[in-house]
Amino acid sequence: MPMNSLAPQPSVESAAERLLAWYDRHARRLPWRALPGERAEPYAVWLSEIMLQQTTVAAVKPYYERFLARWPSVDDLAAAPLDDVLAAWAGLGYYARARNLHRCAQVVSQEHGGRFPDSEEGLRALPGIGAYTAAAVAAIAFGRKATPLDGNIERVTARLFAHEEPLPAAKKALSGLAERLTPETRCGDFAQAMMDLGATICLPKAPKCLLCPLDEICEARRLDIAETLPVKAPKKARPTRRGIAFWVVGPGERLLLRRRPSKGLLGGMTEVPSTEWREAGWSEGEALAQAPLAAAWEPLAGEVRHTFTHFHLELAVWQGRAETADPEIGIWADFDDLAGLALPSVMRKVIAHAMKQQD
Ligand code: ADE
Ligand code: SF4
Repeated sequence: MPMNSLAPQPSVESAAERLLAWYDRHARRLPWRALPGERAEPYAVWLSEIMLQQTTVAAVKPYYERFLARWPSVDDLAAAPLDDVLAAWAGLGYYARARNLHRCAQVVSQEHGGRFPDSEEGLRALPGIGAYTAAAVAAIAFGRKATPLDGNIERVTARLFAHEEPLPAAKKALSGLAERLTPETRCGDFAQAMMDLGATICLPKAPKCLLCPLDEICEARRLDIAETLPVKAPKKARPTRRGIAFWVVGPGERLLLRRRPSKGLLGGMTEVPSTEWREAGWSEGEALAQAPLAAAWEPLAGEVRHTFTHFHLELAVWQGRAETADPEIGIWADFDDLAGLALPSVMRKVIAHAMKQQD
């Protein structure tokens, strides 16, 4: 490739070339990946990309392998009961993603003959597929020229160009800069090479510039400001919300549970019934008005804390007994069956907290 010594740093052509040569030798071997230069299965790429959003590679691996063993094709996943998929997903967080995963599999299976659309636009139209996932799948599974922007790629790009504008405002500019670096061929390898460089060399703290294939063309390295990039706008503090969970045991030693609305936080997941979660504390009267039934409530000692993306939650737990297991009120679950339910982490904490206090 011709090198123009007057080109602005970093030399866009040589970045991709250097990075791909590095990837050929150092690509991480991941269960959903093809070897460098080969195309991976769209189903495998899509499944892994959905799982990897806001979760680490190490955490995803066992889930990915279990999903693939149990549902080897998108048609198998589409045919699975939603509850099985949610239960298999439990622990990965963000259950809305698991619901969308299942819906997406059904759309691909029923409306696209079991084949994923092979363009960014086509993928973008599927449930649960945003700009990042569409670009990642288009590039990695179909070799399309597309540039996904994840946290690793953002960081590497900000450093290569010494782009000092704070995130998240900088996303647009960084996306444009990453596009400029993207080669015409091997776009999927290029994207994954950027991810791997970010995960193993261009680390958030203490980047290993001495081992980096891009060190000669990196602006942040030249200016010695790599560690300060990307700049992040100060985060808003997370507010604390409060609620009261109602621990109700009915006849036959069964626990009262409820299914959350399908939209919103923990959509469709099973929960221990509770008041709404709000910043203001609860008076007894207010809490009673939101109890699932009338009972002689006894507050348990202590409280359950859990942190979500946008807030901390503090739940007090009140215990009561029900004379009848009225199915209008909720689901009466055997204690032995709790392990098989798609319960979000916060509800597992509530259950552990209450069980600890039973004699
Ligand atoms: N993070 C998200 N997608 C990835 C991929 N394909 N390889 C490595 N890390 C990733
Ligand atoms: Fe990151 Fe350093 Fe490589 Fe620049 S030279 S891309 S800062 S590891």
